[in-house]
Amino acid sequence: MKLTMCIVGCGGYARNVLGDIHDMTDEFDYYFASRDISKAQQYSEDFGGVGAFGAYEEAAADPRVQSLYFFTPHDTHLDNVKLAAKHGKHILIEKPIARTLDEAQEMIQIARDAGVKLMVAENYRFLLTVDKALEIMRQGPVGDSFGELRQIELQAEGYSVPKEWRTSAEQNGGGVFIDGGIHYVDIMLNIGGYPESVHAIQPPQTHTEVEGEDGILMTARLPGGVAAVINFSRATPIRETPHMVHLTGTKGKLSFVPNGNELSVENRQVRRTVRVPAPRRGVRQMVSEFRKAIEEDREPSMSGLEGTRDLAIVLAAYESARTGEVVRLSEPQT
Ligand SMILES: NC(=O)c1ccc[n+]([C@@H]2O[C@H](COP(=O)([O-])OP(=O)(O)OC[C@H]3O[C@@H](n4cnc5c(N)ncnc54)[C@H](OP(=O)(O)O)[C@@H]3O)[C@@H](O)[C@H]2O)c1
Repeated sequence: MKLTMCIVGCGGYARNVLGDIHDMTDEFDYYFASRDISKAQQYSEDFGGVGAFGAYEEAAADPRVQSLYFFTPHDTHLDNVKLAAKHGKHILIEKPIARTLDEAQEMIQIARDAGVKLMVAENYRFLLTVDKALEIMRQGPVGDSFGELRQIELQAEGYSVPKEWRTSAEQNGGGVFIDGGIHYVDIMLNIGGYPESVHAIQPPQTHTEVEGEDGILMTARLPGGVAAVINFSRATPIRETPHMVHLTGTKGKLSFVPNGNELSVENRQVRRTVRVPAPRRGVRQMVSEFRKAIEEDREPSMSGLEGTRDLAIVLAAYESARTGEVVRLSEPQT
């Protein structure tokens, strides 16, 4: 089944993603919607689209459009879902699912009531490096064994000053952790499971012109006592260092750049490199999963609930950073 998908919100990240998926013409016909018709027309021209709309409602109401992929600020996500559901359209929505758990729950309920699919566009769930790490942890590479997971370390430091709606804690739902850090939360959850507790510290703010935090250090206790740490910062004065994932097992260690195409696998005797295909952010696998979930009439793997689980951890980290206390978590339920 070929799916018609309207890209809604012609901003920065939509352009990046379309660069990676525009040629998937066996699976998709792309429409584009913007509050400014000339932007939608330009994106349609740049990425081989089949049509353009100058208003989101117009796109949602058009019978040719089967699904909507939203790339808009976080305070608009709930309204996006209301709009799509009102017109019976399937929904792919950029991360984070929402700013609060109440918003996320409402979105899931609205989609369910309307009988449409709701998927969160968390592309890190579809990274081939993470898939390969999970495979190695389960099976062990040839001749090696990872053993039992002990520790997860995620390091994602860089320097950039949030702009426009991202400077508003209200519109963004927080600072850099809910925006970019949530990807690393998703890797942690995907690999190590849902945390029993988290503790977080917010370092002194460098980007004082923005309302939300510019960095968070979070530790988490995962099932089985596995220890996890995420160092996420957009105020580390460096040029560029690769973001890193380190997974330590009782018998070996795996290290990789999430958006890279190789993993280092080592134990006390040997170190080797395992390659995976070029990742293209995982977005090709992600949109394919959305299409297949519609075709097969099943819940997408990165469901609204999965997005809510990621969000709940981010919000627990915020609570901990605010109070200084360890926050115990209970899993969000459907
Ligand atoms: N997965 C990832 O790695 C990743 C990376 C970056 C961003 N994202 C996510 O993608 C979404 C969009 O982020 P972005 O970086 O593309 O943002 P952006 O460049 O600011 O674009 C957002 C677009 O949303 C539309 N919009 C609708 N209501 C708006 C409002 N009140 N204020 C401003 N824009 C409004 C605008 O499109 P029109 O003018 O065309 O209507 C705008 O161009 C967010 O959910 C973000 O978290 C994900």
